[in-house]
Amino acid sequence: MLLEPEVLISLYALHRNPELYPDPDRFDPNRWLPEQVAQRPREHAVPFGAGNRKCMGDKFSWMEATITLATILPRWELRAVPGTKAPTEAKSSMAHPTRMPMTVYPRQR
Ligand code: HEM
Repeated sequence: MLLEPEVLISLYALHRNPELYPDPDRFDPNRWLPEQVAQRPREHAVPFGAGNRKCMGDKFSWMEATITLATILPRWELRAVPGTKAPTEAKSSMAHPTRMPMTVYPRQR
């Protein structure tokens, strides 16, 4: 019987490696501008894993997030409540905020 080697990596550690992402805990959406992304090897950002066990929900999740943001953000502005910091919790596949208090303001039309 041929045993195939299994490789485990920590996506949490990869995505917070300061050599790849300076000041990794800072919220910086500009990291994902096309010109920034083009400077990094594709393997530096694998939120849905890779290989045989890659997430089957990746396309659904991108679509859901895009529709959600496209629905909310033209109408509402979300601002973090001053003085609060969103605590993050590392789970098996990702880290996410456990609570993020925000104030919602209607956008001027
Ligand atoms: C932002 C949302 C999501 C993220 C970041 C995410 C991330 C991940 C990651 C990192 C893995 C492990 C991949 C690996 O071991 O290499 C995984 C596995 C998996 N995900 Fe997701 N996922 C998300 C949403 C979803 C959704 C919406 C579904 C279902 C509709 C889903 C279904 C699965 C399944 C079934 C696996 C196991 C695949 C396997 O072991 O063969 N995920 N996901």
